Amino acid sequence: MVEFLKNLLSPKIAEVTGIEKGIIYDLLESPKTIEHGHLAFPVFTLAKSLKKAPPLIAQELQKKLENKIQNVTDIKAMGGYLNFTFQDQFLQEILSNKISESPQKLGFQKPNHQKVVIDYSSPNVAKPMSIGHLRATVIGQAVRNLAESQGYEVTGLNYLGDWGVQFGKLAYAYLEWEGGKANQYPFKEKPFEALFQLYVDFHKACEEDPELEKKGSLTFRRLEEGDPEITKLWKIFLEISLNEYNRIYQQLNVKFDLIQGESFYNDKMEQTIELIKKKSLLEESDGAQVVFFKDDEMPPCILKKSDGATLYATRDVTSAIYRHDKMGAQHLIYVVGVDQNLHFRQVFKVLELMGYEWAKNCHHIAFGMYRFKDMGKMSTRRGKVIFMDDVLNKSIELAKSIIEQKNPDLENKEKVAEQVGVGAIIFNDLSQDRIKDVDFDWDRALDFEGDSGPYVQYSIVRCKSILRKFGREIPAKMEVPLTSPQERHLVRLMLNYSEALTISYKNFKPSFLAQYLLDVCRAFSSFYQSQKILDPAIDEKLTLSRLRLVQCVESLLTQGLGILGVQSPEKM
Ligand code: ARG
Repeated sequence: MVEFLKNLLSPKIAEVTGIEKGIIYDLLESPKTIEHGHLAFPVFTLAKSLKKAPPLIAQELQKKLENKIQNVTDIKAMGGYLNFTFQDQFLQEILSNKISESPQKLGFQKPNHQKVVIDYSSPNVAKPMSIGHLRATVIGQAVRNLAESQGYEVTGLNYLGDWGVQFGKLAYAYLEWEGGKANQYPFKEKPFEALFQLYVDFHKACEEDPELEKKGSLTFRRLEEGDPEITKLWKIFLEISLNEYNRIYQQLNVKFDLIQGESFYNDKMEQTIELIKKKSLLEESDGAQVVFFKDDEMPPCILKKSDGATLYATRDVTSAIYRHDKMGAQHLIYVVGVDQNLHFRQVFKVLELMGYEWAKNCHHIAFGMYRFKDMGKMSTRRGKVIFMDDVLNKSIELAKSIIEQKNPDLENKEKVAEQVGVGAIIFNDLSQDRIKDVDFDWDRALDFEGDSGPYVQYSIVRCKSILRKFGREIPAKMEVPLTSPQERHLVRLMLNYSEALTISYKNFKPSFLAQYLLDVCRAFSSFYQSQKILDPAIDEKLTLSRLRLVQCVESLLTQGLGILGVQSPEKM
């Protein structure tokens, strides 16, 4: 990939400039268009020490390097830049070799022996996952895959919301209304729906009988004290919820290495409070234990309420220390909505005040909200919250009807509709800057020709169909150089794949990768439309080289889309 070219140029430029080759490597960049070559070296850093104008420096360097670098066909000084163009066949071979070497790990960096814990999805037990959790899930999975591509050792962690007074309420409601008595909820047939219904009904009933709240709290106390009957119920609720979540995770192609809910930290929080106290950071305020921040830059972080109860923040401070100290992670990443911005700023600041130098490696990967233009009946059916499952099902239905129109004879229509429908939702989410709110538009998400997941899938399917039609083995070597502007552009773009992964991870923005993949699709489409591939009128060697290019596109898009968590069908 492009690193290979940078490695090739940097020592040569180092030789004539005297600058260290590592610095040159970092300065080398990809010019905007292919007309400016494959790599550009900005000479501005030299201007000061040489006391010369950048264009002059570029011209002098050009003369010194001309004809001195193997496989470079052209060196041009342009303003303050020195632009390098490589031989076509040389580049095509690099691309083709890299892809055949490791199609699954294309563009991956070597292991860097650093550990990252990524906390993502993390829904609250007994409730259906909301659209917010959809974002936390798919952005999290993509960031996780990106981290792996950068050589990190990654633990994907699901920090289930599995503790809190709502479990007391649920247990109370279950014992009162369900357990052995009325059996009015379908716990056997549809356990998750039954659980959620119980939750909804309890809250409705509270409006009429405020005493119920108190009873729920008392039942939670019993859970906190380890009462076996309530603990058993709590475990059942947990299992029912996990079964439901796992079904969705499977559909979304999402995996965790560890499920470690909030309850895991119950017996570890006292130690955290002690530590904070020892550092003289803890103060009393209206009976609560809090940490104040300098100059009131933020509201204080409450760690213990006046009744002695711990809070969400107490658990997050505790869990961060655990992830660093016990799990050995140097980097902690949290994929959670932007509405929890203050919470994470407080938690990270408390860690910093506690003297943890690694607090600077804690990152809140925030994302905006979804706004739906048209959810039809959905948005009102179950109150204000939009559930992930409803969105996925609607998307699969729509994909099915599009496929029915476009390709009614397709085999495995159900499976393809699921891949396309789910892929459309994931890609639509990931292709937009995560921090912004998403204006969700069904037509756009499912537009087979627009900037959508189905469009990338369709490009892959198109490649596969060309290769199938040819039906024979294609040599990895490109037989003849490809020289049309479309082909050269495509090759150059694909060589930048590893860089797209790196930039995407550095910014924790899967949208970079998604936009890059769309660029590759567009470049492929213009190549495909302008050049003949399987045409007996063209030379067989040219056909083979072009087919190899198609194979490279197919591999790269499949792998890149996979990093975003989207699968691609064979046909669609
Ligand atoms: N369960 C929380 C929610 O649904 C998200 C948890 C995010 N992770 C964390 N470490 N706080 O809002």
